[in-house]
Amino acid sequence: MPLVNTKEMFEKAYKGGYAIGAFNCNNMEIVQAITEAAKECNSPVILQVSAGARKYAKPIYLKKMVEAAIEDTGLPIVLHLDHGADFEICKDCIDAGFTSVMIDASSKSFEENIALTRKVVEYAHAHVPYVTVEAELGTLAGIEDEVVVEHGAESYTSPEDVEEFVRRTGCDSLAIAIGTSHGAFKFKPEQCTRDPETGILLPPPLRFDILEEITKRLPGFPIVLHGASSVNQDLVKIINEHGGKLKDAVGVPEEQLRKAARSAVCKINIDSDLRLAMTAGIREHLDVHPDHFDPRQYVGDGRTYVKKLVKHKIMEVLGSNDKI
Ligand code: G3H
Ligand code: 13P
Ligand code: ZN
Repeated sequence: MPLVNTKEMFEKAYKGGYAIGAFNCNNMEIVQAITEAAKECNSPVILQVSAGARKYAKPIYLKKMVEAAIEDTGLPIVLHLDHGADFEICKDCIDAGFTSVMIDASSKSFEENIALTRKVVEYAHAHVPYVTVEAELGTLAGIEDEVVVEHGAESYTSPEDVEEFVRRTGCDSLAIAIGTSHGAFKFKPEQCTRDPETGILLPPPLRFDILEEITKRLPGFPIVLHGASSVNQDLVKIINEHGGKLKDAVGVPEEQLRKAARSAVCKINIDSDLRLAMTAGIREHLDVHPDHFDPRQYVGDGRTYVKKLVKHKIMEVLGSNDKI
């Protein structure tokens, strides 16, 4: 099974009322954890690579690890560029064999976003085989690569803009802003209510009204949610019990993501939850076994935690299990 693009995957997900998990990859253990989990759940999967991942691991290593995962699992896998900042990085990735790219011109003006997205689409669609392009309209709060968008500076996607944007760009999927946000601290405590018993922060709900309006205007068109980690409080607890200091980390509740996955949302991006799982496994191991110094032992536990998390996401949140 060679790498695939998102076209058929999203068509099936849209019709089937589930979403594909797009998990960020930065090293071998993360690639293995995601793809082994997907294999055990019989689920299609998107492995995505950010500019930060390319800088950390080198593109060639990431590409070869993803190829190894395909050979190892036989799964349909998309290799996707996450948050491509300009035409050149998209072109580089397309030339290197990525099957899907995101051009993120969401911080630019509407016309500039259209022009740049269109340029990437023309290049990607002329490629043989066809490379799919994700674009973005609206701005999420939080941290992505080196870009920090302060809470309050984010802006929801305007449903009035989406038809013109998709028609003029020819993009294959659209990332929208409906209240998700990047990172493990998605909402300021003052934006949330606090559970009186547990003290855990309860975030404001996603704007499903905007999603519905967008879906009406773009029937059958795949929508993408970035910043969709749930910041599992059990993992935060493990981290904090073993020397970590993550105060008021908060994510998007899983029930809301499950609801989104049943709708036009065909791709759900998860990175922070993987980081938390890896950190929980490593911190716990090193704290419990202070005499250990073999990375295979503690990074291995990190990998086990990531795999368990991805299986949970596939079965309880995305609903993409048994879809191959
Ligand atoms: O949306 C951003 C992703 O979480 C990637 O983050 O650039 O630190 O790899 P990164
Ligand atoms: P999280 O920070 O919520 O995991 O979002 C990841 C993401 O959107 C990657 O593009
Ligand atoms: Zn993102």
